[in-house]
Amino acid sequence: MKILVATEKPFAKVATDGIKDIATKAGMEVVLLEKYTTKEELLAAVADVDAMIVRSDKVTPEVVAAAKNLKIVVRAGAGYDNLDLPSLTERKIVAMNTPGQNSNAVAELAIGMMIFMARAQFGGAGTEIAGKTLGIHAYGNVGRLVGLAGKALGMKVYAFDPFVADKSIFEKDGVTEVGSVKELYEKSQYLSLHIPATAETKGSIGYELAMSMPKGGTIVNTARKEVIDEAGLAKAMTEREDLKYATDVAPDAKEEYAEKFSKRYLGTPKKMGAETAEANINAGLAAANQIVGYLKEGNTKFQLNKF
Ligand code: 3PG
Repeated sequence: MKILVATEKPFAKVATDGIKDIATKAGMEVVLLEKYTTKEELLAAVADVDAMIVRSDKVTPEVVAAAKNLKIVVRAGAGYDNLDLPSLTERKIVAMNTPGQNSNAVAELAIGMMIFMARAQFGGAGTEIAGKTLGIHAYGNVGRLVGLAGKALGMKVYAFDPFVADKSIFEKDGVTEVGSVKELYEKSQYLSLHIPATAETKGSIGYELAMSMPKGGTIVNTARKEVIDEAGLAKAMTEREDLKYATDVAPDAKEEYAEKFSKRYLGTPKKMGAETAEANINAGLAAANQIVGYLKEGNTKFQLNKF
């Protein structure tokens, strides 16, 4: 059995070595396709593989059609908006993610970006984040870690997440749950985004929400650039010169943001949230173990599509 690791943004070597080790012990072979630049390279690489590990790499209907032997694809990470679930499901190819495995890395980046923005990008006198309010938009694995870190740094933390089943988690964490997205933005001097990119959330954060933030309001986006209404947010930042936006990864309109907003804007050229050795090892090895578990024992824990 062949496992393709298709990573335009490669894992740290220690992680690919670990993946190879798991595969070899299970009698499987690993093929690496790293830093590829064309769709054709990916289409050729998937042709004869049984399993596939990806990061933010796009598994489109075309890729699925080219992968004639594919039985399972694992997104080594949390957000799976890069997987075309309908075409995978149609072919009865299992899709999985590895929730929680890279959360700490992303949470640390969110806090780092928050401090970098508060300190005027290290370009002059800034402010401190202690004593400020922090809003967590979606209290999942990453959101919770950011909330707890914010509390440890002396912030007053609010959260909004209608999908949290056990509401006692907020009290346990010392975080105040608010009743609406609007209320969250109204209360938050710092707003950390952790919503997935779905049909409902894409373009959902824009002018109105940004305008409702307190003075100096800073949005930190380590979720997906697609959840932002870029034109709406730019309008708000033009009307209010106190608003700031830090994003992993840079918006489509990055030139406009950089030119108009200078130090009030920060965008990473590549998504850096999960770019740590630890996150690569955790997510990469989990993906390999999930593939072996499925192909050898039919273990479908973490399966995203049902058929
Ligand atoms: C995720 O959804 O797990 C993160 O956004 C990490 O994405 P990456 O693997 O492309 O760095």
